[in-house]
Amino acid sequence: MTKRRVLVLNGVNLGRLGQRQPEVYGATTHAQLAEHLVETGAGLGLAVDVRQTDHEGEFVGWLHEAAAADIPVVLNPGAWSHYSYAIADAVVQVPFAVEVHISNVHRREPWRHTMVISPYVTGTILGLGLGGYDLALAHIASAVPA
Ligand code: DQA
Repeated sequence: MTKRRVLVLNGVNLGRLGQRQPEVYGATTHAQLAEHLVETGAGLGLAVDVRQTDHEGEFVGWLHEAAAADIPVVLNPGAWSHYSYAIADAVVQVPFAVEVHISNVHRREPWRHTMVISPYVTGTILGLGLGGYDLALAHIASAVPA
């Protein structure tokens, strides 16, 4: 049986996980996170493709790909979450999207409280560290029909 494809899309600055503010985002690198999510996904019967970019247009292109092929998405748009209407307009086209934030943005600076993409996703997980990505994959495996 072919595995259900899932895209995990990490946006701006998330390629620096492990080096960037480890007190907020932890010590795990993006490469380690990606390897872990591919393994976790395989255990759940999912073929997980983890990508990261600092370029908004590339991120939008990946959302178009998910929309066209009906692929569920886990996304952490990083700071774009707070102001990118372009990503909001793209994510609304994706049939199933879970937004993940490593930190609880509502306990941080006021500018992080504005979430312009959240109204267009299926659900949001925030403040649970990198474990939020695992929860999102587990939810997709159990809730999204193949
Ligand atoms: C983040 C929270 C954002 O405010 C921040 O700009 C990020 C990471 C998180 O995962 O907690 O880059 O999305």
